[in-house]
Amino acid sequence: MLDLVGLSKSYGASRVLDDVSFSVQQGSFTTILGPSGSGKSTLLMSIAGFVEPSAGDIRLHGRSLLPVSAEKRNFGIVFQGYALFPHLRVRDNVAFPLRMRGLSSAEIAGRVKRALDLVQLQDFADRFPRELSGGQQQRVALARALVFEPSLVLLDEPLSALDKGLREALRDELRRLHKAVGMTFVLVTHDQEEALELSSQVAILNHGRLEQCADPATLYNAPGSRFVAEFLGRSNFIPVEVSHDGTGTLHLQSGRHRFEHRQDGPPAGGPAVLALRPERLVLTDSDASRPNSLPGIVSDISYRGADLSVSVTTDLGELIVRLTAGDGQAMPRTDDRVRISWSATAGYLLGDRSVT
Ligand SMILES: Nc1ncnc2c1ncn2[C@@H]1O[C@H](COP(=O)(O)OP(=O)(O)OP(=O)(O)O)[C@@H](O)[C@H]1O
Ligand SMILES: [Mg+2]
Repeated sequence: MLDLVGLSKSYGASRVLDDVSFSVQQGSFTTILGPSGSGKSTLLMSIAGFVEPSAGDIRLHGRSLLPVSAEKRNFGIVFQGYALFPHLRVRDNVAFPLRMRGLSSAEIAGRVKRALDLVQLQDFADRFPRELSGGQQQRVALARALVFEPSLVLLDEPLSALDKGLREALRDELRRLHKAVGMTFVLVTHDQEEALELSSQVAILNHGRLEQCADPATLYNAPGSRFVAEFLGRSNFIPVEVSHDGTGTLHLQSGRHRFEHRQDGPPAGGPAVLALRPERLVLTDSDASRPNSLPGIVSDISYRGADLSVSVTTDLGELIVRLTAGDGQAMPRTDDRVRISWSATAGYLLGDRSVT
């Protein structure tokens, strides 16, 4: 439906978007994820028509959008900073796009009510924006972007000012709404949890470049680069030398340790990095002899809700192991001698090129 083709944007000498290409399918939920300053808003505003690309094209159903003005693109937009009209009450802010489109008063009243119900602001319809909290203003902006049922909704961090409970409620609402109405959503966030939960695909930006665009499971389990593996959740990284034995099992050598590894489409032999998620590692006592394991000493333990994060010092560096508290296994203590192990399919090999 929407294709970004080699999109670049420079301000003077600084290149804010660098040759970004990916496609958004009709009815999908795409998230643009990346650190602050990586170009997320610039990318979204280019789609919306408020930023003119320096090179490349943006196509909707195969036709270039570049000659089409922002208003004519007819997208629902929530800007970062959720600019509301300060002189209009909440209900008139939400009604604004409908008035622009010449709907009848009865139709407008019904739709505004539904949109305000959706963001739980029924009781605030007569207030002015200055009489609302930041989170309430964001919800008004969201209602205003959805109220005219646009084919494409562009949201720039629409939930960032909300507290955790409300953010999760609205996240569920967004997902429900997306399923119900079949609108196409493109959402900017730097909240990885939000991205993983909501999206059919996530485009990860780093310094204006597209690192990877894929579904959440692929990004998590088969990251294309160390940046992606680190940005989405935590990973341990072990530098290894890869060799084949022709059976499909790879042999990884790291220092004096040898590990076995299997994955689809293994990279060529040579230097690489094995990425291991902390929750895929198993902790046992030190004398259990297992393949794919490393001895170490527990250096630190921290609780994160139901999970326990255990740092283990090994001769390949500090590794993090995530355990679930209360699942029956003995909990380690600082200075315990332990053994970390993992299955041959637990990790993911990153080519040496991606390591910076
Ligand atoms: N009009 C402009 N003129 C010059 N530089 C700009 C302009 N707009 C953005 N930039 C720069 O482009 C880079 C990307 O900005 P952008 O707003 O797209 O980042 P972002 O990923 O949305 O960040 P955040 O998560 O902080 O919102 C930044 O370094 C920013 O300073
Ligand atoms: Mg931004």
